[in-house]
Amino acid sequence: MESIISVPLPNNSYNIHILNNGLLTLGEKIKELNLGKKILVVSNPQIFDYYGNLTVDSLEKAGFSVNYHLIPAGENYKTLEYLAQIYDSTLKFSLERNSTLLALGGGVVGDMTGFAAATWLRGVNFVQVPTSLLAMVDASVGGKTGVNHPQGKNLIGAFYQPKLVLIDPTVLKTLPDREFKAGMAEVIKYGVIWDKSLFEQLEKANNLDSLDNFDGVLLSEILVRSCQAKAEVVSQDEKEAGLRAILNYGHTIGHVIESLTNYETFVHGEAVAIGMVAAGKISVEMGLWTESEAKRQNLLIEKTGLPTIIPSYLDIDAAIAHLQTDKKVKGGKVRFILPTAIGKVIITDRVTSKLVRNVF
Ligand code: GLY
Repeated sequence: MESIISVPLPNNSYNIHILNNGLLTLGEKIKELNLGKKILVVSNPQIFDYYGNLTVDSLEKAGFSVNYHLIPAGENYKTLEYLAQIYDSTLKFSLERNSTLLALGGGVVGDMTGFAAATWLRGVNFVQVPTSLLAMVDASVGGKTGVNHPQGKNLIGAFYQPKLVLIDPTVLKTLPDREFKAGMAEVIKYGVIWDKSLFEQLEKANNLDSLDNFDGVLLSEILVRSCQAKAEVVSQDEKEAGLRAILNYGHTIGHVIESLTNYETFVHGEAVAIGMVAAGKISVEMGLWTESEAKRQNLLIEKTGLPTIIPSYLDIDAAIAHLQTDKKVKGGKVRFILPTAIGKVIITDRVTSKLVRNVF
């Protein structure tokens, strides 16, 4: 059964479609949206190997003229240099303003393609076809696009919404377990910050550490509920003036861990998992959250096989200094997202460095 979740926005609303074997319907869906005649698919070699033919066939059958551009897989390539190569292809294939850039891949492909779409000819159509769990439940929805600067992640970017997000859960079968678990960190995040019944549903599952442990119903439920949570938050605060910052739960310390380990030790979702445990502990220490609910969160993270402990070899002074460079710093103060109940968080700048030190 197809689930359609709308992301209502003042000027650029769109739908997220979740459908098994949805890739086969991609061309027809884009045709219905009247997005021009030309599509440049951006992907990475491995994903394109798996799903490139299916994607291109579906688009061509619907009458589109299709080309593709591949970027190497991995966060290291999310740079201006590799972005420029996408522009070379948009130029080579003469993309016009009513043409479409389509991201077929995980977060890196989605972020880069979105930024290329936002900037090429001051904006061409953008379609997201996420292939990792993390991209399905987080990165592909909400319009955050961009590339990294040597000094920090996602420092160069734009808010640019897609015209369509198509999620085909069947493609998760080729996702490595580690990446699946990393995506689950963001799913657990939605349970803690927004959707208590999603949280409780995850608690009922025996094991969350591999796609093999999910039946179709549970998988569809976590995709729908996570996308719904993201859509509700983004539609209330598209450009992160306030509420949207709650989506960064676990990310404040998570980003520090990723950065201080040079993005080599942990994938994003793993660092977020550790960050959620740390933020939960801070909240408990500040008397904002009960220890028993924090434990329930940590149990879910453990049940997913995600890490929970900040590596002891991290330099605490460097970590505290790094917190100040976080994009979420406002007026010199680091903002933390802290749970106050399952399904509820607050945004606060009252966390002291002393407390952060203790938690580290
Ligand atoms: N990944 C956080 C956000 O989209 O705001």
